[in-house]
Amino acid sequence: MPATMKRRSSSRRMKSGNGRSSRKGKDAIALLKEDHQMVRKMLKRLESNGSEDLLNQIEAELKIHTQIEEEIFYPAFRDSLRSQKDEHLYYEALEEHHVVDIVLPEIKESSEGSAEFEAKAKVLKDLVEHHAEEEEKQMFPKARKLMGAAELRELGEQLQERKQELMSDMGMRMRRRAA
Ligand SMILES: [Fe+2]
Ligand SMILES: [Fe+2]
Repeated sequence: MPATMKRRSSSRRMKSGNGRSSRKGKDAIALLKEDHQMVRKMLKRLESNGSEDLLNQIEAELKIHTQIEEEIFYPAFRDSLRSQKDEHLYYEALEEHHVVDIVLPEIKESSEGSAEFEAKAKVLKDLVEHHAEEEEKQMFPKARKLMGAAELRELGEQLQERKQELMSDMGMRMRRRAA
């Protein structure tokens, strides 16, 4: 196991650690799936009405979503694995985020409404849909099996908290309502 894989081990998990386990709020998987649904809808709209403004909103949503996954959910998932055979799910997910990071700026460089913009938007949509599907069909069910309900709730709180921070950094609170 590479040394880097131990990085972040448990650093954010169970952060509150004071015995207080909130029953409010969504668990991590519900929160991430909700994000997926919202981005799926936005990507559909991008296909039929490819505006730059919508693309900017999608970019912000994807950046926040992938960041909270990489900072909080993925490391917790990796830590929960009892064998190395499922580690490919973790590494593949990271690589797919990386590909999204490459495609996004390319779409932004092409002119709104052009055939190139539409083609790149379609590639982004396919990519994100494939990635979200793999998380929902493979990674999340495994995470649900390996982590307890309390841990998933705790992670959900951490994800929500971090998401709020990143959203306010990006000044997204209001714009999100329009999504
Ligand atoms: Fe992801
Ligand atoms: Fe995701």
